[in-house]
Amino acid sequence: VARPLIDGFGRRVSYLRISVTDRCDFRCVYCMAEDMTFLPKRDVLSFEEIEALAGAFIARGTTKIRLTGGEPLVRRDIMQLVTALGRRIGNGLEELTLTTNGSQLAKYAVQLQAAGVRRLNVSLDTLDAERFRAITRRGRIEDVMAGIEAAQAAGLAIKINMVAMRGVNDDEIEPMMAWAHGRGMGLTLIEGMPLGEVDIDRADSYLPLRELHERLARRYTLTRLDTRTGGPARYVHVAETGGTLGFITPMSHNFCESCNRVRLTATGQLFLCLGQDDQVNLRDAWREGGAAGLDAALDHAMRIKPKGHDFVVDRSGREPAVARHMSVTGG
Ligand code: GTP
Ligand code: 5AD
Ligand code: SF4
Repeated sequence: VARPLIDGFGRRVSYLRISVTDRCDFRCVYCMAEDMTFLPKRDVLSFEEIEALAGAFIARGTTKIRLTGGEPLVRRDIMQLVTALGRRIGNGLEELTLTTNGSQLAKYAVQLQAAGVRRLNVSLDTLDAERFRAITRRGRIEDVMAGIEAAQAAGLAIKINMVAMRGVNDDEIEPMMAWAHGRGMGLTLIEGMPLGEVDIDRADSYLPLRELHERLARRYTLTRLDTRTGGPARYVHVAETGGTLGFITPMSHNFCESCNRVRLTATGQLFLCLGQDDQVNLRDAWREGGAAGLDAALDHAMRIKPKGHDFVVDRSGREPAVARHMSVTGG
């Protein structure tokens, strides 16, 4: 790679997360408010623009691209983009993957596999149909289950993402583990993060995963794994279930020192940290300056990438650390 993307703290950026839409067919309580205003469609990048931007990243050493949302599979004709990006695999790009709520997966599983996707992260916070409805406010668990089955049948490896919430689903950690591991899927637990106003009090449901790890270690034989998927999770192997359990702990253990990623929004803003507002407008850099403009903008981005987030568990009920919702940057 000619000019790798290295930030001011010496961290190499090799992982690009692309939010293809801020829209979603669910309204998960920890992610969105019931009443959301989405971006006007005219402001959203075209697939050609996304491909051009992704190409610039790949040329500068990006090996992993993850499509996110909102819900990536609700964007119209999304397979056109997946197929185009899939052609880059083996040509600098090593992995193309998605984070999805699974609602549309039954329809897309086979096409995703054909386009070169090998692995998906599916968000699922509960196994209980009524609880699922309460958490997502719109979703039907049957759709997600059908999607997961179709994806597995198509040969895609699946990791389940579960936002762990005290008093909401903390009684389901072990059943979820048994369920996921029993089906050959990994399970990754995530601490809720303070992004955007939502209708719940996140401090109330905050579950420190450090504590949970200790609790689980008393009941299960957990062996630390060196597995790195490129994301922030730290993994253990669970002897009793034979599966892998991941922990994403932005609140109780900050992992920013090893950050390797940046996030492109559906409108072409490049966010340099999930927990900060620092951003560069790549859409304008590309429209006005072409390839050279884009390269200069990426150099600038590396200079301003912040050291890390400063999320805290806020019990005072003040504003969230970051005003935008997770659905703007896709997590
Ligand atoms: P893998 O490729 O499987 O490692 O996936 P990933 O963890 O990179 O991606 P995924 O979309 O599944 O993200 C899981 C959770 O991790 C989401 O809640 C993200 O918001 C969170 N996450 C990912 N990257 C960061 C980060 O840099 N900082 C923080 N605080 N959270 C992150
Ligand atoms: N904190 C932590 N995780 C969140 N997600 C969405 N909003 C939040 C939040 N505020 C999760 C989703 C999905 C992933 C992309 O991020 O459940 O698994
Ligand atoms: Fe949609 Fe994912 Fe947010 Fe739930 S967490 S509302 S599925 S974007």
